[in-house]
Amino acid sequence: MLRRTIVTLPGDGIGRIVLNQALRVLDAAGFKADYVHGDIGWEFWCREGNPLPQRTLDLIKEHKIALFGAITSKPNEEAKSELDPSLRGKGFAYSSPIVGLRQKFNLDICVRPCRSYKGNPLNFIRRGKGNAIEEPFIDAVIFRQNTECLYSGVEWTNPPKQVYDAFLTHKKFVENFGEVPVEELSISARIFTRKATERILMAAFKHAKKYGYPSVTVCEKPNVIRETSGLMWSLAKEIQKNSYPEIKLLNTNIDAQMMWLTKNPEDYGVIVAGNMFGDIVSDAFAGLIGGLGFACSAQFSADGIAVFEPTHGSAPKYADYKVPIVNPVAMIESACMMLDFINEKETAARIRKAIEEVISDGKVRTYDMMKLTGKPEVIENGAVSTVEMTNAIISRIR
Ligand code: NAI
Ligand code: MG
Repeated sequence: MLRRTIVTLPGDGIGRIVLNQALRVLDAAGFKADYVHGDIGWEFWCREGNPLPQRTLDLIKEHKIALFGAITSKPNEEAKSELDPSLRGKGFAYSSPIVGLRQKFNLDICVRPCRSYKGNPLNFIRRGKGNAIEEPFIDAVIFRQNTECLYSGVEWTNPPKQVYDAFLTHKKFVENFGEVPVEELSISARIFTRKATERILMAAFKHAKKYGYPSVTVCEKPNVIRETSGLMWSLAKEIQKNSYPEIKLLNTNIDAQMMWLTKNPEDYGVIVAGNMFGDIVSDAFAGLIGGLGFACSAQFSADGIAVFEPTHGSAPKYADYKVPIVNPVAMIESACMMLDFINEKETAARIRKAIEEVISDGKVRTYDMMKLTGKPEVIENGAVSTVEMTNAIISRIR
């Protein structure tokens, strides 16, 4: 079997904690790889003025697969004040290394599965007929376009003359904003390209077909945002008709989807959206299956680069606990997505089964699963530590 090299990017805060635990699990499951460490995060911003050093980009370019923990971002002024004194006033500007990674490698496809674990006390429940309590089984996979839309950074406050003049060529702009002084205008551009929109749609359909989901739901707002959401919806219809006629194509508006979310979440399988609405809908579904401690993700580029990470951040307030308390499942699940990607599906399945057993058993629960506020005392109150949760999972791997 091909022995892989995987770039590990622990980053900051709890990113370091959970990544280590995921590596223990991979090892216990018999997965053999060489790991190379990549520098990323706040420490490198402070020391070098760059949270995503070129040497790290080179490593990812060479090995193509990375497991990422989380990073810390802070507002500009705070970032500047923490910069090494020798670097201050030299024009260094902080920008998020995770956004940087997406852009540098064009990681345009983001996949966020949200599947409930039986017995997870954080699962969504609702009242059904006759006041019965129902716990619908949720199995949604959100495909989020990861590089465009409102997150591309094309934005202005007090836009320059050429931009303002261009807006003045649009009738609606003149009608609605023609009287607004230019210095009072803030504009963020929502840009979709045909190529990237097609790629995220194709990825969604392909996944639906491969894993037997009956439908793909486009979650945008094409009745109002006619150009960008409209592009996605019309391309979706084309792709479905020409390449995936056996898969049902559904259309929900992001606002209505948020309303339906708690009514019939079990009716959704593969969901596809642009960057902004994909971010929203994936967090919303993650909330139904236990939240940040359970939400995993993967990001892919067209040329085979893949980065796997939990969707949570670095949770700095929990980073320095003597006994770490955060839930490692999101990170371990992200590692399983990596195993799927490199065709180690059997190993991934064994790890997932171990997680399932620990959760349904109900004896071992991290603080979030007990609905406790994150404090060191949670351990005395019956929650297990990050390491104990990992140990429990490892002990169940067959
Ligand atoms: P966060 O995700 O780090 O934490 C929010 C809260 O969620 C925590 O206080 C904790 O209560 C809970 N939580 C997160 N992960 C958990 C886990 N594994 N187990 C149990 N509970 C967990 O988001 P926040 O506080 O908004 O941001 C903290 C830092 O992380 C910021 O600097 C932010 O910029 C960064 N961030 C980084 C991301 C990334 O690296 N991909 C994503 C989101 C935020
Ligand atoms: Mg988000």
